[in-house]
Amino acid sequence: MSWPYRRFIRPILFQQDPERAHNMALTMLGLAAKFPPLGNALESFLGAPPLPVSAFGLDFPNPVGLAAGMDKFATAIPVWEKLGFGFCELGGVTWHAQSGNPPPRMFRAVADEAIINRMGFNNPGADIFSRKLKAWKTSHRWPRHPVGINLGKSKVTPLEQAATDYASSFRQLRDLADFFVVNVSSPNTPNLRQLQDKSALDEIFAALQEAQANTPGQPPKPILVKVAPDLTLTALDEILELAIPRRLAGIVATNTTISRPKTTDAARQKIYNETGGLSGKPLRERSTEIIRHLYRQTNGKLPVIGVGGIATVDDAWEKITAGATLLQVYTALVYEGPGLPRTLVEGLREKMAFAGFTRWQDAVGSAARTAV
Ligand SMILES: Cc1cc2nc3c(=O)[nH]c(=O)nc-3n(C[C@H](O)[C@H](O)[C@H](O)COP(=O)(O)O)c2cc1C
Repeated sequence: MSWPYRRFIRPILFQQDPERAHNMALTMLGLAAKFPPLGNALESFLGAPPLPVSAFGLDFPNPVGLAAGMDKFATAIPVWEKLGFGFCELGGVTWHAQSGNPPPRMFRAVADEAIINRMGFNNPGADIFSRKLKAWKTSHRWPRHPVGINLGKSKVTPLEQAATDYASSFRQLRDLADFFVVNVSSPNTPNLRQLQDKSALDEIFAALQEAQANTPGQPPKPILVKVAPDLTLTALDEILELAIPRRLAGIVATNTTISRPKTTDAARQKIYNETGGLSGKPLRERSTEIIRHLYRQTNGKLPVIGVGGIATVDDAWEKITAGATLLQVYTALVYEGPGLPRTLVEGLREKMAFAGFTRWQDAVGSAARTAV
C-alpha cells in the first residue's frame, strides 16, 4: 500500500493545505467507519497479523497504536483497527469546547518527512465528546482493541486550576475509554508545559486519584502522562518520582518538540520558522533517547508508549529495544499512508523471530539492557 499511496494518493493530498487534506482523509475514514462493508474491505487489504501485548492491565492485539491528535473528534473510531492498529488514542479533549489557534496551523516539511503544528487543542469539549463516544458504543461498532483518550487543559482555565479542569474531563469520560493520557506537554497551549513540573503534576494526579476513588465498585482506569522531548533528563526523573505514590500507569514519550534541525536550505528554514511543535523524522532520535532513559531509570517496571518519528520497521524496533512496550504513529501515516500499521506489525514479528525472542517482554528494552 505504501507505494501506491506515495505514488497516487499522496500527491493529490499534498496539493491541499495540510489541515484540509487531514480533514478530507478523516471524512473518508469517517464514511468507512459508518458503513461496515467499506470498513471490512479496508480490513481485508490493511488488517495486521496478531502480535499480542499486555500492558497496564489491558490486552492489545498488536503494539502499534494511533497517536493523539489524529482523531480529535472521534470521527473514525471503528476504522483504526481495520487499518491494522492495535489501539488508538483519541483527542486531545479539554473540559471546555475550543476552536484552537487560527489557521494556518499545520505545516509540512516534506524534505524531512516532518510536520509542524500549532493546532491548540481544537476539540468539541468533554461533554459533546462523551456523547459521540456513547453513540459509537450503542452503534455496536466499537472496536475490539483498547481505546485511550488524551486529556488537555482548556485554554481559558488558569494554570492554578488545571487539576480541576483535567479531573472534570476525566469524570465525564472515564467510563467510555480503557485508558487516559494526561497531556501536559503540548507546546501549543500557553504555559501548559509548566505542568510537567513535579508539584503541578502531583496536584493533577491527586485530583485524578480522587476522581477514581469517587467511583466505588469500578476498577481504576490506567492513567499515563505524556512528556515533551524538550525536558531535561533530571526533569524526567522528577516526574518518575510520582510513579508509585500517584499510581502512574505509564509514560507516553514523546510529544512534539519546539526544537528545530539546523538547515542552510532557505525553503526548509522558512517552514521551521513557524511556531509550533515539530513531529516526524527529526524527532526520532531524541524520543528514543528519552524512552531509553525512562526504561533504565525504572528497570523497565513502568510501561512506556514510544512515539516520535517512527516511519519504518527499524524505527519501531529501535524504540521497542530501547524500552517501549507499545508504539504510536502520527506523522509517518501522512507520509507513508494507511498501509503503515500492517507493515510495522509484520516487520516487528519478523524482528522478534530473527532475534530469537518468543516473548514480547524479552524484546522490550533488550538494547537498553546491554548497551551502556
Ligand atoms: C497535527 C497534530 C496534532 C497533534 N495533537 C496532539 C494532541 O492533541 N495531543 C497530544 O498529546 N499529542 C498531539 N500530537 C502529537 C502526536 O500525538 C505525537 O506525539 C507526535 O506527533 C510525535 O509522533 P510522530 O512523529 O509519529 O508524529 C499532535 C501531532 C500533530 C502532528
